[in-house]
Amino acid sequence: MFPAALLASTFPSKTLGATLFAFREIPSTNSFALERIRCNPAHGTLIIADHQTAGRGRMTRNWFSPPEVNLYGSLLIRSTLPGRYAGWIPLLSGLVIGKTIEESTGIRIDLKWPNDLLIQEKKVGGILCETALGFDGSPWVVIGFGINVNLPENHFPDELRMTMTSLHQISGHPWDRLSLLQHIAGSLENIWTGQDWPALSRLKKLYGESCSTLGQRVQVHYPDGSRITGVAASLGEEGQLQVLPSPSFQGGQSDRIIAVHSADILHIRKIHILDE
Ligand code: BTN
Repeated sequence: MFPAALLASTFPSKTLGATLFAFREIPSTNSFALERIRCNPAHGTLIIADHQTAGRGRMTRNWFSPPEVNLYGSLLIRSTLPGRYAGWIPLLSGLVIGKTIEESTGIRIDLKWPNDLLIQEKKVGGILCETALGFDGSPWVVIGFGINVNLPENHFPDELRMTMTSLHQISGHPWDRLSLLQHIAGSLENIWTGQDWPALSRLKKLYGESCSTLGQRVQVHYPDGSRITGVAASLGEEGQLQVLPSPSFQGGQSDRIIAVHSADILHIRKIHILDE
């Protein structure tokens, strides 16, 4: 478990983590955060746990959350952002956390749209953003992050071994979880105290530079089970993925872009675009 004194000094008198809940074990930090919204929490409340017994991922999946090896955290934010930015909150959170891990470890992190953190096409972390209204009707966002830090390869369940990785697995040595958490918290604090929230055009550019989905042939898996295949062409103004479908999906009319707001994306293969 993270030592309590060290944790307290990690977040001295800042907005983010000024209210901090640290659990040895909890079903899900996101579920706890959503419950707190009813109690008018402090903006920037941070909830972390050493072990989740019912960790949740995107698309109602479970998030594998064994004890004492990884990072599981949820940040509670009272969002005052204009509505057009709402779709960018999960994307920017993924971008910031990915960049922070990259800077702290020297390991290159790619983003798979919308916010999977990948190393060499395997998932090392994920973000689950959930929204709810406070008792006074104010909009709250829970930004949940799970990072596989020190999990050795043979400790993943069989069904995850091919698709998941950890920082330890990639580098061959363990990492200081507290230090990583401090860095992530610092970066998120900069965003949510309003200083570093980039303009939309810059956000698109920054996200595009880290997002390995763009330019790839992808299969889009919708929550209702339907699928389309195409090329991930660009990002829309609200952070949606714009996909140019393969001709077979539109009776030969493959020039109509489809906007994807919520889905799982499978990378099929990289398309190399050569400069003329
Ligand atoms: C994903 O499916 O990629 C998102 C995974 C998010 C997992 C984190 S761990 C901390 C927080 N609490 C949860 O129950 N889920 C998120």
